[in-house]
Amino acid sequence: MSEKLKIKGGKALQGTIELRGAKNFVSKAMVASILGNSKSVLENVPAIKDVEVVSKLLMLHGCDVSYNKTKGVLEIDPENISSPKIADVDTVVGSSRIPILFCGPLVHKLGEAFIPALGGCKIGDRPIDFHLESLRKFGAQIEKKEHGIRIFAPDGLHGTKINLPYPSVGATEQTLLTACIADGVTQLTNAAIEPEIMDLINVLQKMGAIISVNTDRVITIEGVKELRGFTHISLPDRAEAASWANAALATGGRVQVLGAKQSDMTTFLNIFRKIGGEFDINDNGIEFYHPGGELKSIPIETDVHPGFLTDWMQPLVVSLTQAHGLSIVHETVYENRFGFTNALNKMGAKIQLYRECLGSVPCRFQQRNFKHSAVISGPTKLRGADIEVPDLRAGFSYLIAALAAEGESNVSGVDIIERGYESFTEKLENLGANIELLK
Ligand code: EPU
Repeated sequence: MSEKLKIKGGKALQGTIELRGAKNFVSKAMVASILGNSKSVLENVPAIKDVEVVSKLLMLHGCDVSYNKTKGVLEIDPENISSPKIADVDTVVGSSRIPILFCGPLVHKLGEAFIPALGGCKIGDRPIDFHLESLRKFGAQIEKKEHGIRIFAPDGLHGTKINLPYPSVGATEQTLLTACIADGVTQLTNAAIEPEIMDLINVLQKMGAIISVNTDRVITIEGVKELRGFTHISLPDRAEAASWANAALATGGRVQVLGAKQSDMTTFLNIFRKIGGEFDINDNGIEFYHPGGELKSIPIETDVHPGFLTDWMQPLVVSLTQAHGLSIVHETVYENRFGFTNALNKMGAKIQLYRECLGSVPCRFQQRNFKHSAVISGPTKLRGADIEVPDLRAGFSYLIAALAAEGESNVSGVDIIERGYESFTEKLENLGANIELLK
């Protein structure tokens, strides 16, 4: 059942919250554990829905999975890996995008994989053509089934050359997870190099893989015969850190984000400072705050790393509704990530969407009828409203908007936020937010 959060806005958030491991890394390291011949231990694992879904899928494949929520330690033993019943796999249809990454590891270990239809946020079409094309190059064959796809490789998986049409995070991970124990060398060009991918490479190297990251987005993987289990502490969640930073700024408050890592957030920190936010970096994390004075408008574009992460964009837009002048946001990663601005307009924001590329360079969505540029006119007073969460990052942005608004908001569908933000209601209460969870 959809959960609703009643929020009384107008109170500055003050206090400390603790980050755990990155949603967009942890689930991938969990998949990597299948490739090992022994148990893996992953630390700093957040209690979020994506971890639950991937744990379930691993268990359906015979892996032994145990999770200590308090310590954030997850242990996965793939020794008894086996093919599941398709009817069982069907139970996770539509719940996450991670299952697509099981392809290579399962084909290596079991000779075939059945991948249920994917879920994830509706922020664009999100096709899997790059993934399937990569797998075909390794020698895999793909059959469409009623509730998913079947992948198999009668002659095994072999190293190959792959050039991604776009530096896709998922397709880069797919290639890494397939290449490590494929026979021969794989060269991946136009790869994504996000910090979460670099940490996945750390994990694979601990397992025995040979991977070199060269300049210009080229990754070379020399296939090895086998991999062992790993012990690893996940990097912190930089998307969550930026969300709390905007919550502090938009409410005029101060939030110490324990565990936030400067080097993964350089691009965000520059923008945060340019719009008038401030932060202090200390040994324990980063303290974000509104230093007083006016917030300033800015033109920005989202991009692949080291550009401005698209997952940082939605919470930032809420802060920009409080900035003086016209801000321009050009979203170049997803064609359809601005649907959430309707609700902000209902709350009093002035955001107009455009099909044109309002950025320094035209992106892939030029002339394609997608409203992927936004002009935000500020500052505007936000008023409480009844709104419904459409996707993960938009959901957190709605919480920020409701906290910054005058009056009461009812935000429904907040369970979607649990997919990526651990204990967010407790964290909000600790920061002094006036909220009530209605089930
Ligand atoms: N794309 C294709 N074909 C493909 C794969 C991707 O056209 O086969 C396109 C997508 O449609 C999109 C672009 O390439 O327009 C980038 O997609 P990418 O593959 O990089 O994204 P992803 O792997 O599906 C991950 C994160 C996203 C994050 C992006 C970009 C996970 C589980 N998800 O998605 O996180 O926005 O990388 O950094 O790792 C979020 O956390 O809110 C979230 C959406």
